[in-house]
Amino acid sequence: MHKKFLPLSILLIVLLGLAVSGYMTSPDKPKVPVRILLKNSGGKVIFTHIKHLKDYEIACDNCHHERAGNETEPLPCGSCHPQAFDQDYVRDHINSFPDETYCVTCHHAELGELNFDHEAHEDYADEDCQTCHHGAEIEEEPQNCTNCHTSAGTEDIPSIRTAAHDRCVTCHEEQFEDEMKGCNTCHKVKNMKKFEGDTTPCSQCHQNESKDLVPNRLDAFHNLCMDCHKELKRGPYKDNDCDKCHLR
Ligand code: HEC
Ligand code: HEC
Ligand code: HEC
Ligand code: HEC
Ligand code: HEC
Ligand code: HEC
Ligand code: HEC
Ligand code: HEC
Ligand code: HEC
Ligand code: HEC
Repeated sequence: MHKKFLPLSILLIVLLGLAVSGYMTSPDKPKVPVRILLKNSGGKVIFTHIKHLKDYEIACDNCHHERAGNETEPLPCGSCHPQAFDQDYVRDHINSFPDETYCVTCHHAELGELNFDHEAHEDYADEDCQTCHHGAEIEEEPQNCTNCHTSAGTEDIPSIRTAAHDRCVTCHEEQFEDEMKGCNTCHKVKNMKKFEGDTTPCSQCHQNESKDLVPNRLDAFHNLCMDCHKELKRGPYKDNDCDKCHLR
């Protein structure tokens, strides 16, 4: 019996020792890399990380925009800026984040209540219900649009978004011209401080594609590096400067 427990006890003591020494020497801050090797199809790039922040005196949040300060380890850029916004991204990105506070950087809004005074609008339309509702051939009686118009819509029946907007726009053109700023006059947009599981596709609200809203990996790196170099007129950024960053 005792012989069986001996190796276990030793293991326990060793583990305890490791835990204690680990605790005493545990680094409070993440290791800030000196240089970073970025492999890519354009030729490897050696990024002089420490030089950029110490010699060129650039603060962390110029580049690591997702977290202010340097308390927490920043996420790799690629977890938010993928090669492509494809099916793989949709499947994998959910596991790329340490917790749900990150989700709302992108899944950031939810359409809340509708701010629409129906009674007042009967007046505005001179009691002509068909300004918005269909005639009897479709709507036997005026009723909620969502009884027939769904979120996704069908080939024959437009989505609730298209259906409603098409009617409202006849009198509210300016609000739609304001694009994202105009939404709030009719929709009370909820700002989600906490992720509540709303993963409505971006295109449900935005005319732009995901890749125009969140740049892909190539654009994210090129824009970050080049915008700053261009602005300061230092470091490589000109059209024929490719090999000042890319080793071929
Ligand atoms: C000039 C831009 C720039 C500045 C300034 C900068 N970083 Fe970075 N940092 C980067 C880039 C780019 C990467 C590579 C990220 C990647 O590979 O996805 C990186 C990577 C890192 C990593 C490694 C992350 C990982 O996934 O391994 C840490 C930690 C880090 N930076 C911390 C800091 C801290 C702390 C500061 C400020 C003291 C700072 N950085 C300032 C651009 C910068
Ligand atoms: C937690 C997710 C997340 C991480 C990590 C992240 N980004 Fe972003 N990034 C975004 C989102 C969302 C936007 C678009 C909205 C905005 O402008 O804030 C964006 C926009 C950008 C833009 C265009 C807007 C601008 O500020 O110029 C650049 C360039 C960029 N990111 C570069 C980077 C680089 C380089 C890294 C790594 C050092 C990085 N990002 C890490 C989410 C992220
Ligand atoms: C400006 C456009 C517009 C006009 C004009 C209009 N409606 Fe509506 N109506 C709507 C919209 C949008 C909805 C669904 C959204 C909602 O619930 O408020 C709706 C919903 C309804 C409903 C269902 C309400 C419920 O809660 O079940 C009835 C009934 C209705 N309308 C009757 C009428 C009648 C009768 C008239 C004419 C006197 C009229 N509407 C004029 C846009 C309009
Ligand atoms: C009883 C079912 C039903 C209800 C309720 C309904 N619709 Fe429709 N709607 C349809 C069908 C079916 C079509 C497609 C046939 C067509 O194009 O005329 C359609 C088409 C439309 C179209 C595109 C064609 C057009 O008429 O301009 C708009 C816009 C529209 N609906 C708006 C609305 C609005 C706004 C409401 C609520 C105020 C509403 N609908 C309520 C069934 C309905
Ligand atoms: C027949 C013309 C007409 C149509 C169609 C119409 N509206 Fe209006 N709407 C008006 C008028 C007139 C006002 C009051 C004057 C103003 O505030 O501009 C108004 C005011 C509003 C307001 C208050 C605006 C504010 O600035 O606070 C909202 C919200 C609104 N409408 C929503 C809608 C929605 C949603 C639809 C489509 C279902 C719609 N309207 C369709 C004429 C219309
Ligand atoms: C003039 C008023 C008005 C404006 C401005 C407006 N909407 Fe709407 N929107 C509506 C109405 C009315 C509905 C139908 C709501 C219902 O009956 O459930 C709707 C529906 C939607 C839906 C469908 C919601 C669902 O449940 O599937 C989306 C998405 C949407 N709007 C996005 C937007 C965005 C994004 C903007 C700004 C670019 C915008 N709307 C501007 C009035 C407006
Ligand atoms: C950098 C931006 C970004 C971040 C951060 C992010 N997402 Fe996404 N997510 C997207 C994009 C882009 C899509 C594709 C949706 C589209 O095409 O409109 C998506 C799609 C999804 C989908 C599939 C929705 C559908 O109906 O297809 C789910 C589920 C999802 N995300 C959950 C999460 C969760 C959970 C988190 C946090 C742990 C998260 N996302 C963080 C950008 C992001
Ligand atoms: C429920 C509707 C809705 C959904 C879904 C949605 N957004 Fe938005 N988004 C908005 C609204 C509304 C604004 C404008 C907010 C404001 O101006 O206060 C906005 C603003 C933005 C901006 C800033 C744009 C600018 O020009 O300043 C970015 C970037 C963005 N959204 C990215 C995304 C991405 C990526 C997704 C999908 C993962 C997404 N959004 C899903 C409604 C939505
Ligand atoms: C916020 C400003 C800023 C950002 C962001 C930035 N740089 Fe720089 N970079 C500089 C400055 C300042 C210099 C110094 C040029 C000089 O000494 O004349 C420099 C110099 C360089 C040089 C030449 C000298 C060296 O240190 O190797 C390279 C290569 C370089 N940067 C690559 C990058 C890459 C890759 C990125 C993106 C991951 C990047 N930089 C992002 C400001 C920036
Ligand atoms: C300031 C430094 C810098 C300059 C100048 C630069 N790049 Fe890049 N490039 C990068 C970085 C950083 C990446 C991203 C590495 C990664 O994805 O990890 C990259 C990525 C790429 C990729 C890879 C795309 C992929 O999906 O693998 C290509 C292709 C590319 N660059 C081409 C060019 C060309 C062509 C030029 C000149 C017109 C150029 N680059 C100039 C820093 C630079």
